[in-house]
Amino acid sequence: MTNNPDFEVSESQIAVHWREEDYYQPPPSFVAQANAADPAIFDRFAQDKFPECFTEYADLLTWDERWHTILDTADPPFWKWFVGGKLNASYNCVDRHAQATGDKTAIIWVPELETDEPVRISYSELHRQVNEFAAVLRDAAGLKAGDRVTLHLPMVPELAVTMLACARLGVVHSQVFGGFSGNACGTRIADSGSRVLITMDGYYRAGSLTDHKVKADEALEQAARQGQDVDKVLVWRRHPGKYASQTPMAQGRDFFVDELLAEHVGAIVEPVSMPAEAPLFLMYTSGTTGSPKGAQHSTGGYLSYVAGTSKYYQDIHPDDVYWCMADIGWITGHSYIVYGPLALGTTTVIYEGVPNYPDGGRPWRIAEQLGVGIFHTSPTAIRLLRKVGHEEPAKYNYHFKHMTTVGEPIEPEVWRWYYTNVGKAQAAIVDTWWQTETGGFLGSTLPALQPMKPGSCGPGVLGIYPVIYDEDRNEVPAGSGHAGNICIRNPWPGIMQTVWGQPERFIDVYYRKYNADPDSKDWRDWPYFAGDGALEAADGYFRILGRVDDVINVAGHRLGTKELESAALTVDEVAEAAAVPVIDDIRGRIVEMYVSVKPGADPAGVDQKVSKAIEVEIGKIARPKNVWVVADMPKTRSGKIMRRVIASVSNFADIGDVTTLANPEVVETIRQHVQRAKVAKGELPRELTAAEYEEIAKYGAAE
Ligand code: WTA
Repeated sequence: MTNNPDFEVSESQIAVHWREEDYYQPPPSFVAQANAADPAIFDRFAQDKFPECFTEYADLLTWDERWHTILDTADPPFWKWFVGGKLNASYNCVDRHAQATGDKTAIIWVPELETDEPVRISYSELHRQVNEFAAVLRDAAGLKAGDRVTLHLPMVPELAVTMLACARLGVVHSQVFGGFSGNACGTRIADSGSRVLITMDGYYRAGSLTDHKVKADEALEQAARQGQDVDKVLVWRRHPGKYASQTPMAQGRDFFVDELLAEHVGAIVEPVSMPAEAPLFLMYTSGTTGSPKGAQHSTGGYLSYVAGTSKYYQDIHPDDVYWCMADIGWITGHSYIVYGPLALGTTTVIYEGVPNYPDGGRPWRIAEQLGVGIFHTSPTAIRLLRKVGHEEPAKYNYHFKHMTTVGEPIEPEVWRWYYTNVGKAQAAIVDTWWQTETGGFLGSTLPALQPMKPGSCGPGVLGIYPVIYDEDRNEVPAGSGHAGNICIRNPWPGIMQTVWGQPERFIDVYYRKYNADPDSKDWRDWPYFAGDGALEAADGYFRILGRVDDVINVAGHRLGTKELESAALTVDEVAEAAAVPVIDDIRGRIVEMYVSVKPGADPAGVDQKVSKAIEVEIGKIARPKNVWVVADMPKTRSGKIMRRVIASVSNFADIGDVTTLANPEVVETIRQHVQRAKVAKGELPRELTAAEYEEIAKYGAAE
């Protein structure tokens, strides 16, 4: 990067344009009740206390057997945490609370239709449901510890019940985001080697009952094409006893869960005591190239880490009503709707629907009705609610003491609306930076002890020591005004164990770049490469600029460029495809596709076919804003598509130097065609910030 003149320019632009924001102090009322209010905590997690410091997190759990080794580094970078320890995640999230405070509400489920009352599930009721479903998994589906099972479930309490029932048996769950297509689900079934799929007939979204079961049939066909047969499909019914899907149930293969449960009423399944290192779940995530990667998370390390960070960063107390308005189909929901909050025995809210159904006041009505004190969501949701209901929060009588933003960079103006309008200037906010791979938070302020700064996540969290490296492995110092690659110096208990079935890929993607000596057994030689660009201010706060690889973060959801492009290539007429990000005021980034057609093929209607193909292969979430059919793509002499050039066109940014292209003349034709069409559609450009400009100018450089 340092040798690249484009990058030099944008670096200095960041230095000039990046305005330091003012600090906001947490309200005294928050500080007075915070779990971490004594600065002595920083000493307990100081660098010289590593790795023992993390036993403070592990001690939040109930262990069947205590570990003999906190951190085993014998096989870098496959770190092992709490080795020798045994525990069960379901026991920790359910049984121990059911025994102590059985009547307390574990989950409040809010159906999307406002006419339907919220459903409260106590810890003892959760215990009953998890046990009965675990009996179904064991007896009807034949699952046992170590087996993988794919879940393709919407935002219903049955999803949490399913995860916890799997965990009870030591079965490794792999939940695929409900909005993903059947094909996307099928690919993940095949990769994980699941013989059982757990799904639901339908669910409410934006006011209508969707047919979700249809995706199960597509998923099974896709998995079979990839060599994986599925024996059983367990179908929860959104309204038990009443099938909501048009899709037939396959005899001997598909089973209604409510019918199976009827045979296991009152069943008790002893939690299986699992080694700390046993995998708890897989969560697939997209990267630069190739198929999605199954991030494998451990039982002991992961659960300790999400419990600890939920306690100190989400500031969850057992008597809180905590609402993370994210989808359990993403890592945020696994860690901070299900495992973290339930490990701490609090009340966690699960909302079925979209934030603005039926209007932009819905979240605030839910907060008022349920007495939510801690609220957690994404910049995309905040931008949307700000747009559709700027003044709505003031109409409702709720009180948030703590709020979170996660998943994408948040613009300081949007942060201020969140703070002032949503939080009514009475809540502490944390901006938590982390990833599917990292299990839990990496960067955030500790809410009672470190002031907030809009647009920055804050310093590394307790026990996490980030560093910014340039391309030549030099440290980029704090306050230099230069961006680089953010890495974590040390291992931590929440880090994924490996990429499911692909240990070499795990090393290549996350460690190869900054590991100087592959034979070293010292963890200090193995910094974790997060794949994000970042800037460290003089005060040690990080500002995350976004992905350095070609991942497009749409509304907080990572979409791999290659996946989008291969979906487009399933359209017969398409010869070449390129996906680029476009800056969007609500969703952060949206996808635009460029395609060229095969010689002799008819370009008419190809744009719609490509859109449809992406919807089918990946899901509606990935649907491109525009598909541009072009005669030829701008290419290097070696034939590589120059994504930065078309990304600049789509974003009305400077196109930069194109003289080294094999076909520089096509650029102007594409620019005129695309930009005129966009202006005609009213997709008018706004001026990009320096960071956005840099992202676009660098787009595709990682290849
Ligand atoms: C981005 C979501 C800025 C980042 C938890 C990261 C963020 C990717 C933030 C991971 C934040 C996440 N500020 N950017 N607070 N949090 N990101 O795996 O680019 O779905 O690498 O995990 O989201 O997305 P993932």
